[in-house]
Amino acid sequence: MHQLVFATNNEHKLRELSEILKGEFKLLSLNDISCSDDIPETGNTLEANASQKSFYIWDRYRMDCFSDDTGLEVAALNNEPGVRSARYAGEGRKANDNIDKVLAGLKDKEDRKACFRCVISLIIKGKEYLFEGRVDGQILPERHGSSGFGYDPVFLPDGFTQSFAEMDAETKNSISHRGRAVQKLVRFLHNEYPHLPDQ
Ligand code: IMP
Repeated sequence: MHQLVFATNNEHKLRELSEILKGEFKLLSLNDISCSDDIPETGNTLEANASQKSFYIWDRYRMDCFSDDTGLEVAALNNEPGVRSARYAGEGRKANDNIDKVLAGLKDKEDRKACFRCVISLIIKGKEYLFEGRVDGQILPERHGSSGFGYDPVFLPDGFTQSFAEMDAETKNSISHRGRAVQKLVRFLHNEYPHLPDQ
């Protein structure tokens, strides 16, 4: 079976993708390849960070691999927090602090448009393929719901009446940025992988 490194140790992400790709690909985590490095993420864009992580693995291990990077982009905040989504309120601060900072930034703004973007960088035999998943919506004036994580309580996806934190996981995954990026990756792996030329 083909082996693919997923450059993460996030159990939730690994389990979800292993399930989708089972029978075709054996997914290996960073732990599985004994990589305990703190892989740098110093890019200014989601694409740059995802690429940086994938090439870090390719350059050292020469194994087919992929990695992801995600951010919330708020139009009236010049697309911030973007690549800084995890630490928008500062290093070591919690998701709630990040939400407070976004709400404070939008206090007097009418435009509350935002999107989540997830970029996946896949490297097969040294060649990179990028996949993007995106969901558009609005930042709510206050929190709604308690499921999910991160900015979910204040994100209302277009066409829905519930925030991400009010949805069940299945509904969220079917429309989310990550769900959509993963669908593109999986479709590519199913259809293209056996036909990709050697480098
Ligand atoms: P990561 O690249 O998947 O680690 O995501 C970076 C940051 O984006 C997370 O720490 C969260 O703050 C935010 N984020 C990513 N995905 C979601 C989501 O589905 N809902 C809410 N926040 C998210």
